[in-house]
Amino acid sequence: MHRKLAAGNWKMNGTGASLAEVEALAADHADAGCEVLICPPATLLSRMADMAGPGIAIGGQDCHAAAGGAHTGDISAAMLADAGAHYVILGHSERRADHGETDADVHAKAQAAWAAGLTTVICVGETLDDREGGRTLDVVHTQIAGSVPNGASPERVVIAYEPVWAIGTGKVPTLDQIGEVHGAIRAQLDDTFGTAAGTGIRILYGGSVKPGNAAEIFGVADVDGALVGGASLKAADFGPIIAALGASDG
Ligand code: 13P
Repeated sequence: MHRKLAAGNWKMNGTGASLAEVEALAADHADAGCEVLICPPATLLSRMADMAGPGIAIGGQDCHAAAGGAHTGDISAAMLADAGAHYVILGHSERRADHGETDADVHAKAQAAWAAGLTTVICVGETLDDREGGRTLDVVHTQIAGSVPNGASPERVVIAYEPVWAIGTGKVPTLDQIGEVHGAIRAQLDDTFGTAAGTGIRILYGGSVKPGNAAEIFGVADVDGALVGGASLKAADFGPIIAALGASDG
């Protein structure tokens, strides 16, 4: 079983001055009892990788499905790895919404990322409309079936369950709702990739995770960590979330 993972997604936030936050985290959470990952904007990747130290892994927020070529503005998985990344977030709902990314796109990007040796953090989650229509489990099942390639293993894949309506809103599903979806994802991973892969693949919860709600979320079965947006930008917020994960028994 892999270590629990506290992952920060900085989205389109951060300049050189923000590296001080990572320096503070590296100093305070050298032995956190969980793995720590930060996914900064691409402009900060190599600088952050140089200064983060062994206790903090670095990841990209997206990659192209092709290994290289005429794709202005895009970044290949090998470029992320070259910059010091070990992870890449794929299929975040903001990329699905802003860039029209489909499950097939995410699938192709994941294969490219694996070829470059990256671990993929594949994001799934329902909209409020899906939730209210009783379609949450179907939507998440379909997204995982379409987005996660054959050959998924704990080394290659982390799943992030992020309800779209909980991202950046301060709204969080009930603990029962989180447990229901994580349990369904675990069962699907077991069925699709075999029990060894299914039990070892980490499933993160994401959406308005804060220092004040992290511990209770980490107490839910099949929650192996968090993918944190806004509260990952400051060491004073992300630090307590890391500490709560390190202290959880899950
Ligand atoms: P917030 O933590 O800001 O709600 O963002 C969650 C998220 O989208 C992480 O990928």
